[in-house]
Amino acid sequence: MKTQVGTLEEFVIGTQKSLEIGSDYVLVLRSISGFWAIEDRCSHDDNELLGGEITEHEGTTPSIKCVRHGARFNLETGKALCLPAVKAVKSYKAWLEDDLVWVEER
Ligand code: FES
Repeated sequence: MKTQVGTLEEFVIGTQKSLEIGSDYVLVLRSISGFWAIEDRCSHDDNELLGGEITEHEGTTPSIKCVRHGARFNLETGKALCLPAVKAVKSYKAWLEDDLVWVEER
């Protein structure tokens, strides 16, 4: 089920927003390459991912770094990219439609 999480106006590039959707906290963000959404809970030790540094290189999916111990997660798949996290976090589809930002579980 898709959920509206904001407007284009609110989501300037660099915006990160954490929202409760169903029983999950979801981090929705806009990077240079687009809109992304993943579970806002690090699989290493449950820290929020909100506020994490985004790494983005042309031609690759951006990643986010957990501020607590430095694990990185792929923003499209939720896959853990480095220790200390080994398990993926849940990933969501995020997109812009009619100037509104939408999220849906993959
Ligand atoms: S809680 Fe995120 S890396 Fe440890």
